[in-house]
Amino acid sequence: MAYELAPLPYDYAALEPYIDAKTMQLHHDKHHAAYVNNLNNALSQYSDLQNKSPEELIRDLDSVPESIRPAVRNNGGGHVNHTMFWQIMGPNASSEPTGPIATAINDTFGNFDTFKQQFNDAGVKRFGSGWVWLVRNQDGKLEITSTANQDNPITTGQYPILGNDVWEHAYYLKYQNRRPEYLNAWWNVLNWDEVNRRFAQATA
Ligand SMILES: [Fe+2]
Repeated sequence: MAYELAPLPYDYAALEPYIDAKTMQLHHDKHHAAYVNNLNNALSQYSDLQNKSPEELIRDLDSVPESIRPAVRNNGGGHVNHTMFWQIMGPNASSEPTGPIATAINDTFGNFDTFKQQFNDAGVKRFGSGWVWLVRNQDGKLEITSTANQDNPITTGQYPILGNDVWEHAYYLKYQNRRPEYLNAWWNVLNWDEVNRRFAQATA
């Protein structure tokens, strides 16, 4: 099969108490796995497209045949989004940003708390399922955006530096309807080394 689900890079319980082990297990082993399976199924008759990375697929959806475009958009997006999501989180995280992204956040938003408030607010306001992002936009500036479903900012020419999953499957077992509480807690599990690596890639 063309695309594979990488193992979670840490234990299911590594992000406790902010994200519970059961949520991590279902989220990675069932939800992310389903996006990968569905993407493989959609592309099973298109061996030329299987040679593209999942990022390449969703960056240029017009090159995907119309009959499988919605499946590639949703499941290719789901694969790309979740692959990033596991990597930008981790155990022993610092609750404050470090390195160049810390400076860039301060320069753009004034300070980290203001940035967090604006980001969380965008996550709360995303109606239904989707993601909230910090992107490098086409003008080269940091910007907070939000997308529906599994859409990814690279489809509209922006580079996602970090993003939080606000689908109910990401938080419902522990937080039920309290999405704002989940958004707030999430900042305790960020791997800022990986975020800085993505920031460097975005500006390269
Ligand atoms: Fe998810």
